[in-house]
Amino acid sequence: MGLTPVHFFSHGSTRMLEAETESGDYWRKCGEEALAHGVKGVILMGAHWACLGDKIEVAANPNPGKSPCPFVDPALYKDWKPNPDIDGAERCISMLAKEGFNVSANREFEWIHDTFMVLIKMFPDASKCPPTTIVSMNARYDPWYHVKVGATLRPLRKEGYLLIGTGGAVHNLYRNYWTDMLLYRESLGQEKPPESWALNFRQATEDVVTKNRGPALRKAMIRLMQHPAYREAQATDDHWMPALFAAGAAGDFEDEAEPNVLAAETWELRNMCNSQFTFGTYTNASSSAGKGDMGLSSSDRKIRDARPRMVTATA
Ligand SMILES: [Fe+2]
Repeated sequence: MGLTPVHFFSHGSTRMLEAETESGDYWRKCGEEALAHGVKGVILMGAHWACLGDKIEVAANPNPGKSPCPFVDPALYKDWKPNPDIDGAERCISMLAKEGFNVSANREFEWIHDTFMVLIKMFPDASKCPPTTIVSMNARYDPWYHVKVGATLRPLRKEGYLLIGTGGAVHNLYRNYWTDMLLYRESLGQEKPPESWALNFRQATEDVVTKNRGPALRKAMIRLMQHPAYREAQATDDHWMPALFAAGAAGDFEDEAEPNVLAAETWELRNMCNSQFTFGTYTNASSSAGKGDMGLSSSDRKIRDARPRMVTATA
């Protein structure tokens, strides 16, 4: 195997598990693609688990439960059994420790819907879900730190691990309109268009992802935290850090060869934009001439080939 892609998935509300959406279809497609390419394991950073102080942890509970996922039928998730990757967790811990992170295993961690909801959509048959490692965030929400976590684990992409950040592109729970979800378990009806700050930040995110590659992607994703609409789009930083983890994992000079795409999108609750991004593609190590062509349309290939090579300092 050459390189696996990296995903940044916006998981949205819990309704995304039950509702039929373009984003859900894309998650399923990514799961099928992962299985077709023989992905060895999945490494996730979610938005719902952060460690205090200077710590970071890696989930290493061999038999984790799942926290409740409100506003959906429990039948959709209660029998789906997690497949934790204990060896993968130890591997991540050793790589992160070598880079200076204060990191340890958490052998009691229970999975939360930010990760299992996406995995269920990707791998509806739990027996087919590749062994999965969950890495926590650090609650200081330092953007460079989270880019470095992704960059540190990036070499695992060459071994067939699929790295995923699951957070939100526009995700401010205080600015969502919740009435339909609370009364009717319905989140997709957009009675009014999103507000301008949500549209602006959603567009900025798409522009940054699709117009930057490699180290420039890392820097641009970090720079989005200075966008005038950032604080309205992200009331707290927790749903943005997984995007920086993904950018770190997909932001090496080697990654300049592959396009980054906005693949699907679902708006919920008027102002929450669930953009689904994929950085890179599955590449074949045995063919440098055809590197990156797998799964690329001719228009994607044109975009890739037209892109100037960039030389910038790494973030
Ligand atoms: Fe969330």
